Amino acid sequence: MATTEHTDNPHGTTRRDFLFIATGAVGAVGVGAVAWPFIDQMNPDASTQALASIEVDIGSLATGESMTVMWRGRPIFIRRRTETEVQEAKDTPLSELRDPVARNPNLGGEEPATDVNRAAEGQEDLLVMIGICTHLGCVPLGQQGDYGGWFCPCHGSHYDTAGRIRKGPAPMNLEIPPYTFASESTLVIG
Ligand code: FES
Repeated sequence: MATTEHTDNPHGTTRRDFLFIATGAVGAVGVGAVAWPFIDQMNPDASTQALASIEVDIGSLATGESMTVMWRGRPIFIRRRTETEVQEAKDTPLSELRDPVARNPNLGGEEPATDVNRAAEGQEDLLVMIGICTHLGCVPLGQQGDYGGWFCPCHGSHYDTAGRIRKGPAPMNLEIPPYTFASESTLVIG
């Protein structure tokens, strides 16, 4: 299923959100795990591991566009940021960040929340994040809020153009899922 919406954002660019919902995969994992002996649950086979990850074609994602895909029941925000968005994030001193940690498991540690540590390696304009507010779990709105990034209307959390929390009750930056590239235009999440 796919839906498309066009939204004007405060930065004057037009944004397209694509929502792709991967159905079936989660249910199949659940049924299989129940039927298998305990030892198999501890050591899922290749087919189960494959269902735990999704491939996303980002080849048609243009600058200034976003897409949302579902991964393990959670929305994943993928955005090709504009030069302005990248520059704004780079120009922000780390001392102004509430959460100084990148929250990027692809780096494997507690790296500082610089823009380059938040963006995809080798594609500084590409941002891939779990779209769940770190306050109480609402789904933030894109290209809104005081910092032109994401805004969670539930209790007023503002995230910047690198998904870093800047204002409001949320304690942490938007988390980044584990992901790799199968090709330049194919993202593998999970
Ligand atoms: Fe986002 Fe409370 S859940 S601000």
